[in-house]
Formats: sequence, structure tokens, C-alpha cells
Amino acid sequence: MDTLTGYTIARALHVLAVVLWIGGVAFVTTILIPSLKQIPDIHDRLALFEKLEGKFAIQARITTVITFLTGLYLIDLMQIWGRFLQAEFWWMHMMVGVWLIFTLVLFVFEPWFLHAWFRKMALIDSKKTFKRLHIMHIVLLSVSLITIFGAMLGVHGFRF
Ligand code: HEM
Repeated sequence: MDTLTGYTIARALHVLAVVLWIGGVAFVTTILIPSLKQIPDIHDRLALFEKLEGKFAIQARITTVITFLTGLYLIDLMQIWGRFLQAEFWWMHMMVGVWLIFTLVLFVFEPWFLHAWFRKMALIDSKKTFKRLHIMHIVLLSVSLITIFGAMLGVHGFRF
């Protein structure tokens, strides 16, 4: 496989993984959590959340890894490590930042304590816990969308 093919495929896979991953986050934030908040029985609400979010977590784990590997490959191929020392490439820092936050949540915090903690809090005060969960998702989705917007502008020639 020549360099140009590798570069093009890596870029396409990077975007594909980001679409599946952040698209899923958007669905959870704007559709799933608001619908769950309307379920009156707190046990039903929690059970459905765990079932659906648990399935999405698998997809998110796979897509975060693909995003990372393709992104790393592109940085190495394009030899653009120096961008991390330039403020105008803030969107590169944000890509790594967003990836790091999700990776820590999905691979470290969630299995370590977050899942059990959320479950406990949701049984003590479901309304407040789901409200907090929603706010966290809104923040993460907003940061991710700003990153995508910045990256699209930056990659296609916009100079900040
Ligand atoms: C460690 C994680 C990541 C690394 C190393 C990485 C690296 C890269 C690199 C090197 C490029 C090409 C830059 C260029 O052509 O000038 C790129 C493009 C892009 N990345 Fe990332 N990225 C990462 C995570 C993310 C995340 C989390 C998002 C979304 C929230 C994202 C969204 C994008 C987008 C939208 C593009 C533009 C694609 C295009 O128009 O061709 N990346 N990334």
C-alpha cells in the first residue's frame, strides 16, 4: 500500500469512527436521556439506561481506539508533531483532550467506580442524578462539536 492510499484510508477511518462515536453521544444526550427522564418508575428508568448505555459503551470503546490509532498514524505520516506547540492549532489539542476524557471515562473510571456510584446515586435520588448525567453529556457533546467544527475549518485551510 503506497503512502497516499494509507493516508487517505486513515483519514476516512478517522472520520468514520468520529461519526459513529460522537453521533452516538449526540443520540444519548438529545434523545435517550430526555426520554429516560420521563419514565416514572425509577427502577425501570435505571434498568433501561444501563441496558442501552451499556451497549453504546462497547461501540464507543471500539471507535475511540480507531480514532486514536488513525489520528496517531496521520500525525506521524504528516510529521505534524510541532503543531502541539502552536496555539493556532488549538483544535489538535482539543482532539487529544476529547479523546483522553472519553478514554478515561470508558476504560478507567466506568469499570473502576463510576458505574457503581451512578447506580447507587440513581436509587437514592433519581431525578437529581439523571439531571446531572444530562448536564455532563451536554458539556461533553458541546466540547466534541466545537472540536469537530474547529478541526474541519483547520484541516481545510482556515487560519485562526
Ligand atoms: C488522540 C486522538 C486524536 C488524534 C491523534 C487525532 C489526529 C488527527 C489528525 C492528525 C488529523 C488530520 C489533520 C490535518 O489533516 O491537518 C485529524 C483530523 C480530524 N479529526 Fe482528529 N484526532 C484525534 C481525535 C479526534 C476527535 C476526538 C475528534 C472529534 C471530536 C476528531 C475529529 C477530527 C476531524 C473532524 C478531522 C478532520 C478530518 C478531515 O476533514 O479530513 N479527532 N485528526
